[in-house]
Amino acid sequence: METKRRVFSGIQPSGNLHLGNYLGALKNWVAIQDEYDNYFCIVDLHALTVPQDPKVLRQKIREVAAIYIASGLDPEKCVIFRQSKVSGHAELCWLLNCVARFGELSRMTQFKDKTRKGGVESASAGLFDYPVLQAADVLLYNAHLVPVGEDQRQHLELMRTLARRFNHLYGETFVVPETMIPPTGARVMALDAPDEKMSKSSPRPGSYVAILDDPDTIRRKIRRAKTDSGTEIRAVPEKPAITNLLDVYSGMSGRPVAEIEVEYEGRGYGDLKKNLAEVVVEGLAPVRDRAHELLDHPAKLDDLLEAGARRANDTARPVLESARAKLGLD
Ligand code: TYM
Repeated sequence: METKRRVFSGIQPSGNLHLGNYLGALKNWVAIQDEYDNYFCIVDLHALTVPQDPKVLRQKIREVAAIYIASGLDPEKCVIFRQSKVSGHAELCWLLNCVARFGELSRMTQFKDKTRKGGVESASAGLFDYPVLQAADVLLYNAHLVPVGEDQRQHLELMRTLARRFNHLYGETFVVPETMIPPTGARVMALDAPDEKMSKSSPRPGSYVAILDDPDTIRRKIRRAKTDSGTEIRAVPEKPAITNLLDVYSGMSGRPVAEIEVEYEGRGYGDLKKNLAEVVVEGLAPVRDRAHELLDHPAKLDDLLEAGARRANDTARPVLESARAKLGLD
């Protein structure tokens, strides 16, 4: 039997998972799970790069696990687990730290964005090192493909660079993974500021639709979404707000943007928003309901994550051992 290629991806258990995470990541993971050998991680160590309340973090970890499964990931087909339960992530991160360069980490736009307000002086060393841990996540499983949103492109390039550099310096060890970015929904913008990415860490709940928002909240947020001047419903650079709404419409309905533009010819923004809200509600309501059912049984979720961690450890161990041996640490 032909062995399946391996997929790895993850989401941080911080803030509220939103439409961007759903369209940019989750929905694609679900769509491809039959074709691959899948590892979907809850990257709790990454969440620690900014301060977290332990009680909230514990709850968020379960919430992400529930959303993974409620979105349609099948635990029979996917290894679903927590990063912090597989110590190889942190260990390989150290080994890769010693091949990563200070200069290349300094050029990561996500680090620059995240430290713009508070300055680099007070940023945690973990935040600086974030992309190396991310590289370790994927390389530890010799994964071939990494399905992510557009914002992860630069981190993925660095991951490939680190894999190639390690292989070059110490001999063939890691698979050089490929980035997989969806054609729609790869960069969902904030509803109230279409020049900003929709973000989990936003202090403005009106900027995002959370996967667990109730239908009325979703309707209200979409009704209040910013629009552009003019009336035409077209995805063009001069209309970033409408382009974003059309992209979300397309991502949630599976219909091409061009077809939606034709349907809304001569109609107003109000109509578009009203119907978009229903498409989003229809898509997310079953996920929300199922996630709440799962969250009512936290012990079951914990068991599932433990079982996932055991499987993940089994896969990771030989890869880590081969990296250690190449370095002379056998
Ligand atoms: P995180 O938790 O910020 O985001 C999780 C996934 O959601 C995608 N995403 C978006 N897609 C479209 N529009 C948006 N507005 C939007 N916001 C977020 C992200 O691209 C991502 O796919 N560093 C990663 C987590 C990570 C990881 C990994 C991913 C850690 N290790 C290994 C892949 C492989 C992150 O920031 O996730």
